[in-house]
Amino acid sequence: MAAAPRIVVLPGDGIGPEVTQAARRVLDVATERIGVRLDYVDDLVGGAAIDAYGVALRPQTLRLCKTADAILFGAVGGPRWDDAAPDSKVRPGSALLGLRKGLGLFANLRPVRVDPAMVATSALRPERVRDVDLLVIRELTGGLYFSRPKRRYSTPRGEAAVDTMRYSTPEIERVAVRAFELARMRRRQVCSVDKANVLETSRLWRVVVSRVAQGYPDVACSHMLVDAFAMELLRRPQAFDVVVTENLFGDILTDEASMLAGALGMLPSASLGAGTLGLYEPIHGSAPDIAGKGIANPIGAILSTALLLRWSLNREEAAQAIEGAVSQALASGLRTADIATPGQRAVGTVGMADAVIAALR
Ligand code: IPM
Ligand code: MG
Repeated sequence: MAAAPRIVVLPGDGIGPEVTQAARRVLDVATERIGVRLDYVDDLVGGAAIDAYGVALRPQTLRLCKTADAILFGAVGGPRWDDAAPDSKVRPGSALLGLRKGLGLFANLRPVRVDPAMVATSALRPERVRDVDLLVIRELTGGLYFSRPKRRYSTPRGEAAVDTMRYSTPEIERVAVRAFELARMRRRQVCSVDKANVLETSRLWRVVVSRVAQGYPDVACSHMLVDAFAMELLRRPQAFDVVVTENLFGDILTDEASMLAGALGMLPSASLGAGTLGLYEPIHGSAPDIAGKGIANPIGAILSTALLLRWSLNREEAAQAIEGAVSQALASGLRTADIATPGQRAVGTVGMADAVIAALR
């Protein structure tokens, strides 16, 4: 019998533990059905790790993740650590950034699909969001998030600060290749989003993406400026298939894109590197305002386990089973508070997970 795949579970802070627990129950049922047993290891990250160990990400946690087959991540952060100590060197969010960088997870896949049952819940008119099915690939280990220099310093006229946006050819190339490869599994269109009218990094980005595109004559490649794309994403979201963009643009655009799907709580993500190791997390944050109430939407976390099965464990059928079960639960009319229609009685985190599990069985 093959060794049980090892999954490191990092629930983090706020609603992270609640949605991760719900997702794990769904993952257990989905893997049980195909006779796979998972070996889970839990650890603390973010604010929880700051409280317990004084750091957001311990070196041994990173080492543990390197030996794993996949990482299931919740969310990190909260006012207790972020607002109370804005100048602190230890910040919950650094756990996530440390994992992305430390594990070389340069490609962040954020699929945005509007479930038919959710068309009415979208912030946009039904005809605008029906059949939306796009995949944003966000570069995840470069750009403004990580480039140096990055610091605050004093000047005779007061404090100043600098962040740096740097991209090298290999960094752009590898994420572009991932985009074109993924496009071949979909509708064979890549839209690369940049700010080439202003930024030097974007001009290099455009040159490199165009060169990579030549190796994929069967995939249509277009380029769009990020401001125009932000608009087109609302005007004609059905027009896009694969979208590839740099780190900060991708961060912003995927929050925008989540509004197509109805709510931030709906969207999963996969962060991948060169191999099959991946980190899977909902794109929402720790939502401290609703933490501990049992009302958080677990769908983003649950759909993240489908991505885990697909990209790290190569279990496409189980991945589709989970996606189908989520669809069925939504079709039956169940809604958590964030996606409920006015006057509708909402189910909690556990209730929604139960419905997905029932549909799986
Ligand atoms: C995301 C989040 C993170 C990011 C934060 C929590 C550091 O917004 O995953 O989109 O900016 O990448
Ligand atoms: Mg974000």
